[in-house]
Amino acid sequence: MARVAIIGGGGFAKEVIEIAELLGHKIVGIFALENSLKEYKYLGYKDEILSKRDSYDAIHIAIGAVNQQGIEIRNELIDFLQQHNIPSISLISPKATIAKSVTIKEGTFIAHEVLISCDTQIGNYVIINQRAVIGHDCKIEDRVSIAPLVFLGGGVIVEKESMIGVRATIRQGIKIAHNSTIGMGSLVIKSTKPYTLTLQMPSKTHKM
Ligand SMILES: CC(C)(COP(=O)(O)OP(=O)(O)OC[C@H]1O[C@@H](n2cnc3c(N)ncnc32)[C@H](O)[C@@H]1OP(=O)(O)O)[C@@H](O)C(=O)NCCC(=O)NCCS
Repeated sequence: MARVAIIGGGGFAKEVIEIAELLGHKIVGIFALENSLKEYKYLGYKDEILSKRDSYDAIHIAIGAVNQQGIEIRNELIDFLQQHNIPSISLISPKATIAKSVTIKEGTFIAHEVLISCDTQIGNYVIINQRAVIGHDCKIEDRVSIAPLVFLGGGVIVEKESMIGVRATIRQGIKIAHNSTIGMGSLVIKSTKPYTLTLQMPSKTHKM
């Protein structure tokens, strides 16, 4: 059991805290812009992370990323923690199914009912959200965010700082280049280039 401080006070933070507590960790408080999760101690924001260092063993960043701006906000916080050698803890739901050959680095979050198959490697500060399915031999690099219900076929490489939106499907063996954004619902059948946005046709509303 560790004394964990959470960065973030939104809905995603609630999901992260639920899993941290299921794992037996003690939530010592929340670093956030506002005091929004009233049942936990409010610790201030970024400026207080160093001054309150004695009160926690590790931190977990519980601010999600639904686009590249979100990835940048997470990057700033991750860089800050790394510059100051502040340890981050990975939080992996006991209700996820993860093959024993999978490797997971620090600061990563894996939500309920995620499925990760054999020999997949997961980097630092990755988010894999509810019910995502990650095939065998995939490589998910640092700081990637994968939304609920995403499917990655076997051998997919997701390079650093990419964001894959809800229910996107990624064909086996392809590469999502670094800082790619994949819109929710996309069917991705070709590798992407860095700093690109990939979107499927959106729905259209017609008159009845
Ligand atoms: C792709 C995404 C990042 C774009 O967000 P954005 O930069 O704010 O873009 P906008 O919403 O302003 O949309 C820009 C254009 O792309 C279209 N678009 C946005 N998302 C789309 C998607 N998923 N599929 C197809 N088209 C999409 C919009 O209709 C709009 O088209 P227009 O210019 O012709 O009107 C975002 O829509 C997305 O899919 N985010 C992931 C959400 C998610 O997974 N949430 C997880 C919650 S746990």
